[in-house]
Amino acid sequence: MGATVINGKEFAASVREKVAEHVTRLKEDNNITPGLAVVLVGEDPASQVYVRSKGKQTVEVGMNSYEHKLEADTSEEDLLALIAQLNNDPAVHGILVQLPLPDHLDSDLVINAIDPAKDVDGFHISNVGLLGTGQKSMVPCTPLGCLMMLRDHHGSLSGLNAVVVGRSNIVGKPMAQLLLGDSCTVTIAHSRTKDLPSVVRQADIVVAAVGRPEMVIGDWIKPGATVIDVGINRIEAADGKNRLVGDCHYESCAEVAGAITPVPGGVGPMTIACLLANTLTACCRANGLPEPDGLTA
Ligand code: GUN
Repeated sequence: MGATVINGKEFAASVREKVAEHVTRLKEDNNITPGLAVVLVGEDPASQVYVRSKGKQTVEVGMNSYEHKLEADTSEEDLLALIAQLNNDPAVHGILVQLPLPDHLDSDLVINAIDPAKDVDGFHISNVGLLGTGQKSMVPCTPLGCLMMLRDHHGSLSGLNAVVVGRSNIVGKPMAQLLLGDSCTVTIAHSRTKDLPSVVRQADIVVAAVGRPEMVIGDWIKPGATVIDVGINRIEAADGKNRLVGDCHYESCAEVAGAITPVPGGVGPMTIACLLANTLTACCRANGLPEPDGLTA
């Protein structure tokens, strides 16, 4: 195993530390405390875990956390009324509506009701358009975390061949836009791509976000390439216990790659760290203050 292991857990801790330092200065110099509102509709167990973790980490970096837990049968009208209230609340700088929403709610409608300046997920259609045209926007947290790790490892990404495997709105598409913004040559591949192995073999940077356990194998990786594994898949191991694996087969990829993110402990911890970074960025922009260095795209 020759690859450098990119430690997302440590990297995320350093991002949170930078955020916390900036929050302290905002309080001391400007008497401002950034605030993040998280809205959870229903009782999906995985969503409850994420929301709890977001709230805890928000408070740990010195920000205000506002949790809104709504019944699973909440009407669209009531949810939109809450979003309007949060849009108008000057103490709230970031709003996150936990997905997936129950089936009777229209996610696009709900997300697009959030003030784009407070859309710390970067899912609002305005932010998607701003990112696509290279303008200042709120950037989705997981791809932002991947970009931070890639910049840290490579310095400049200019001219590198990047292959993003996966075309989701949450990861694949914004990841491709961010890599283009850093002057990579970008290919978006997916489950229907013809001869996927030969496409991936061209990559200096592989970002795997397809949601298929251990699909990308070492034989597909160009020697020395950087492998960023966004996948989090729970599989049953030979001993009958559950195990978390990524979209890349770790052992075989690590033998060939120059650097690789593990699962768990790679990209995962970066997502909430970047949510906190985005909340801080939104707060600075709302108050006409300089944005934090190294925490934005
Ligand atoms: N559910 C799973 N991932 C995410 C995310 O990044 N943002 C939101 N709002 N919901 C999610």
